Amino acid sequence: MKLHHDYDLSHANTMALTCTAHTAIELFDTADITPAITYAKLNSLPLLVLSGGSNVILPNKLKACVLLPRFNGIHTISKSDTHVLISAKAGENWHEFVQTCLDNGWYGLENLALIPGLVGACPVQNIGAYGVQVSDFIEKVIAYDLTTGTQCEFKNAKCQFTYRHSLFKDNPNRYLISEVIFKLHTSSDHVQSNYGDLAALSLKLAHQDNRKTIHPKDVFNAVIAIRQSKLPDPKVLANCGSFFQNPIISMAQFTSLKTQHASLPSYLIDDNNVKIPAGWLIDMAGLKGGGIFPILTHRLQALVLTNHTPHIATANDIQKSQDFIIDTVHDKFGVQLVREPVWIDEQGYHA
Ligand code: EPU
Repeated sequence: MKLHHDYDLSHANTMALTCTAHTAIELFDTADITPAITYAKLNSLPLLVLSGGSNVILPNKLKACVLLPRFNGIHTISKSDTHVLISAKAGENWHEFVQTCLDNGWYGLENLALIPGLVGACPVQNIGAYGVQVSDFIEKVIAYDLTTGTQCEFKNAKCQFTYRHSLFKDNPNRYLISEVIFKLHTSSDHVQSNYGDLAALSLKLAHQDNRKTIHPKDVFNAVIAIRQSKLPDPKVLANCGSFFQNPIISMAQFTSLKTQHASLPSYLIDDNNVKIPAGWLIDMAGLKGGGIFPILTHRLQALVLTNHTPHIATANDIQKSQDFIIDTVHDKFGVQLVREPVWIDEQGYHA
């Protein structure tokens, strides 16, 4: 393990917010976990696990001991006629892992191409895009309970996965995920290409190759093209992906809104509840590209907040812009937006 004091985390969060951690420990092996817990206890520092930093809002000063898992490795555990079980260590880059799976003929994760972050964080907020959630392919999660230092295994059903949620998100700072086991298809027949613009583009790519059926690689390439066309690359323009969850409202409120705004898109949840896109609400409230400088919504996708003064802006700037957007949308539509990324306070607690 490698220990750092007054560690600059502005490069370790994709929003590029200014943040200095009292202590940071890079973990290269799971055997480093217990000594790191002991060090934090002896120095009375709360623990915080930081993965790819693509879904967090960090404070200016972090009076905590930040654990940075750097475990690497991808290997096959077992193979049947239809499926393969793959282990990926927490420190693997998510998109590169998805690419490796495709290259090896392990299919299912292609819809989740180009999502920023590391493998260890993917179960926490149950990453999802283009009709697929990662929980559809997780067999189990291996984690360390930071309160006891013991290793625990969570089979899929124990992870309590729902839309952008899991047991790990509900128990902040409790578990350090070291490894995720995926159950993937070995046949290329199971493509999920019905979501919105994905269907037409995947088919177009297949036709270019004179094929009638869509291959997972077509979906992968189509997802990359769609994401690149409207979602900013954090390396170019600092952001942390969707900043708000898509709100679920009552059927009565939806019917009333739809009467006033015929173009309102919707996804039926059940007889009484409808999910509507936060991006549409922000856009229609006149805030596409708007907000309070330096934190502005993206000009092509209003759901994404971007930082126009990287390594200078702080969580306080995010708070101002976020509150302005929430209030404006509430005044116009009567819908309360809820933030997606995790807000970390000075003690490393999830506020
Ligand atoms: N829309 C607008 N204006 C905007 C943005 C969106 O009118 O500025 C409309 C779109 O035209 C569309 C609808 O809102 O009719 C939904 O937009 P889109 O399909 O782009 O998806 P989303 O609901 O905004 C969700 C995920 C994304 C994921 C996409 C694709 C959430 C909070 N976000 O966005 O996830 O990539 O679907 O599956 O569920 C992320 O989590 O970082 C992320 C990017």
